[in-house]
Amino acid sequence: MSEQSQLIIFDTTLRDGEQSPGASMTREEKVRIARALERLRVDVIEAGFPAASPGDAAAVKAVAETVRDSTVCGLARALEKDIDCAGEALAGAAAPRIHTFLATSPIHMEKKLRMTPDQVVTQAVHAVRYARRYTDDIEFSPEDAGRSELDFLCRVIEAVIAAGARTVNIPDTVGYNVPEQFGGLIGALLERVPNADQAVFSVHCHNDLGLAVANSLAAVRAGARQVECTINGLGERAGNAALEEVVMTVRTRQDIFHCDTRIDTTQIVPCSRLVAGITGFPIQPNKAIVGANAFAHESGIHQDGVLKHRETYEIMRAEDVGWTKNRMVLGKLSGRNAFRSRLQELGVVFASEEELNGAFARFKEIADKKHEIFDEDLLALISEATVDA
Ligand code: KIV
Ligand code: ZN
Repeated sequence: MSEQSQLIIFDTTLRDGEQSPGASMTREEKVRIARALERLRVDVIEAGFPAASPGDAAAVKAVAETVRDSTVCGLARALEKDIDCAGEALAGAAAPRIHTFLATSPIHMEKKLRMTPDQVVTQAVHAVRYARRYTDDIEFSPEDAGRSELDFLCRVIEAVIAAGARTVNIPDTVGYNVPEQFGGLIGALLERVPNADQAVFSVHCHNDLGLAVANSLAAVRAGARQVECTINGLGERAGNAALEEVVMTVRTRQDIFHCDTRIDTTQIVPCSRLVAGITGFPIQPNKAIVGANAFAHESGIHQDGVLKHRETYEIMRAEDVGWTKNRMVLGKLSGRNAFRSRLQELGVVFASEEELNGAFARFKEIADKKHEIFDEDLLALISEATVDA
């Protein structure tokens, strides 16, 4: 894949995803998800917001010290103390990124920040310069860009790129935009910001109107080269763009998008199940790609068509996104291999035989008491363990 045609996948399940009310995760759970994201081959993992709490800083540190094949990112407001927290938490990362942000919309500047536009430009530039003491990989987001004035947005973006931001992320923070408008915004920025060619333009769309994926894809068509998204579309309020939908759309419709990601799509379903199990947010059956019915054919006409030729009613192959054909029911008579393979499908990989043996012993104890063991039971018994699988 040439660099020109690569779409960078920035996963923020561990940061914006965790902002879903009720979706908070322990440090061990975050590390387990981070490993699954690494197997999925996401380019950037946003591991958390270190200044938010000592627990979040510790989780970002643990993820940074574990992950080797993806960039690990920490969020920071455009404040020195936040940037210091992020820089320290990311010290052990193979490839650290600091993501700093400051709002640029009139309503946020006036009512929330109580800052003038000039002050916002000065603080954004200072934050980017300051963050460079920790890493050269700096991302800047003008928060609420989707409701910001174009001329001012161009001014801020030009200034932060000149200060060293390598990625400029355009968030539709409140999910207010519609696809034509959002694609138009990205196109206008790429055309009007004089130094736009010195940074990667990214998008971060929220799903308040159910348009997060459509808006992200419109932006890709307009030239955005990074998409921020989450597993199962988890995220603040109605969520963020769903990673699995963005990835499978650009892969399936290369005739339209002319780019691809480095995602190993066979890891999508295991990763989705792991996140659903850990957060307790179930996946609706008709959810695209990862819902239980996404590849199920119920009507006779459809079943007949698929049996004659799969492509009559299928635009993707279930195996390509990680669905497995043989679903074995686990119970007290099940063996270690069936146990290991079911957990693998759920995104859990044991670091050693010892770990597997410990988990298998606990499974047998539960299986003695319960007739059938469900995925939730398996994930719960892994979560209770001290190991971070
Ligand atoms: O939605 C948003 O604006 C954010 C920023 C921090 C990028 O999450
Ligand atoms: Zn967000």
